[in-house]
Amino acid sequence: MDAKLSQVFVLLLSALFIASLSDTSHDEQARKTMEDFSGYPAFTPHSCLSISPSSLSVDIQGLQRQIEELSSFSDSPAPTVTRILYSEKDVLARRYIKSLMAQAGLSVREDSIGNIFGRWIGTEAALPAVATGSHIDAIPYSGKYDGIIGVLGAIEAINVLKRTDLQPKRSLEVIMFTSEEPTRFGISCLGSRLLAGSEELAHALKQVVDGQNITFLEAAQSAGYAIHQEDLTSIFLRKDDYFSFVELHIEQGPILENEGVPIGIVTAIAAPASITVDFEGNGGHAGAVLMPSRNDAGLAAAELALAVEKHAMDSGSLDTVGTVGVLELHPGAINSIPSKAHIEIDTRDIDEERRNIVVNEIHQSAIRIAEKRGVKLSKFKIVNQDPPALSSNQIISTMEDAAKQLNLSYNLMISRAYHDSLFMARITPMGMIFIPCYKGYSHKPEEYTSPENIVNGVKMLALTMANLSSE
Ligand code: GLV
Ligand code: MN
Ligand code: MN
Repeated sequence: MDAKLSQVFVLLLSALFIASLSDTSHDEQARKTMEDFSGYPAFTPHSCLSISPSSLSVDIQGLQRQIEELSSFSDSPAPTVTRILYSEKDVLARRYIKSLMAQAGLSVREDSIGNIFGRWIGTEAALPAVATGSHIDAIPYSGKYDGIIGVLGAIEAINVLKRTDLQPKRSLEVIMFTSEEPTRFGISCLGSRLLAGSEELAHALKQVVDGQNITFLEAAQSAGYAIHQEDLTSIFLRKDDYFSFVELHIEQGPILENEGVPIGIVTAIAAPASITVDFEGNGGHAGAVLMPSRNDAGLAAAELALAVEKHAMDSGSLDTVGTVGVLELHPGAINSIPSKAHIEIDTRDIDEERRNIVVNEIHQSAIRIAEKRGVKLSKFKIVNQDPPALSSNQIISTMEDAAKQLNLSYNLMISRAYHDSLFMARITPMGMIFIPCYKGYSHKPEEYTSPENIVNGVKMLALTMANLSSE
């Protein structure tokens, strides 16, 4: 073969190799969502490497020990994990995270609601930092990996980089966000939402109470945060505080595992909304009140739960989902007609407009059901109705480069779960890395991802951050 011919052959082979890295079959929808993230100064990702991918070594045994140890800070028995905001176990878990950050040589700070920041100061410390992070709170009876991989994995990514000879130009920062899960106060992504400057939340947090009537401020104080009402807006971040934000997370869906693809690169995060509804009826004796004379608040709630399912299914798209995850009846006795019912509804879509139509339909159904059943619709509160977020094209390119450098195939995909990234995207260019999880399970104890997946994710994060830090 002469020199020219062999050059063409090599080029052809590399083109085929690069094409094979990205499985386009599931990428189409994800690609459609990619638009220029205007509002942020564009940067052209470096094609040159800040470090060699082969120099990255992950201490997976150590990381797995940490995952196990963190899962032991739980209010429910293993293998389930329950870690609710500002509980005793949450406070212990936070202490553990801070100690790991300190061991990694990071300078640690905490804001007044307990967002925790660990920074590796770069050689040009005045430049906006490259941030990563996720959450460690866990909904009742859930698993060990949701959010955890994005915190413990991020600290390990820093350790991985420290084991190379990298001197990052921009500082690298790991953030542990307070309360991504809405369990205690009904507000999702509480920490990142506030960091991103939600005045509405800063205001709401002055009054909000949990199921035991404990206010947010009391709960925070009991966890050791000397928070005062006027402090809340002081934790807002500025748009130029960070250069970029990248979150590592388990997929929480089955696509990567089904397709045998080790990495997901997120192009957009679906738009979530949550609603709380209260119905009130007269209650009464379960034996004595005849059926035609009842106005049963519990049945109104049950009927609304079915309406939520119908509205989500009738939206015209499989991307619309609706869930009633909380349904509480008062007084909660077998021989008493429910006089009060409380339900909490979660609905999401990748299309904000279609999601908003469903929210409105749920509202109309609640009004109609209350009227029909002679109960009072005493509350219909849209707790949050968030727009979707788009990943930054530049960060997507940086992540694609990292996957190629690590010889990992990847899918471009949409995140149907929400994440702190949804809010970080409001103040800085954002990207997310997914790793596969067993059968797509999440929010239940069977949640699992293999050591191999974790190693891939941590290396992806380390390389992406190293490359972003040199921009
Ligand atoms: C996050 O936990 C979500 O519910 O998407
Ligand atoms: Mn979760
Ligand atoms: Mn999560």
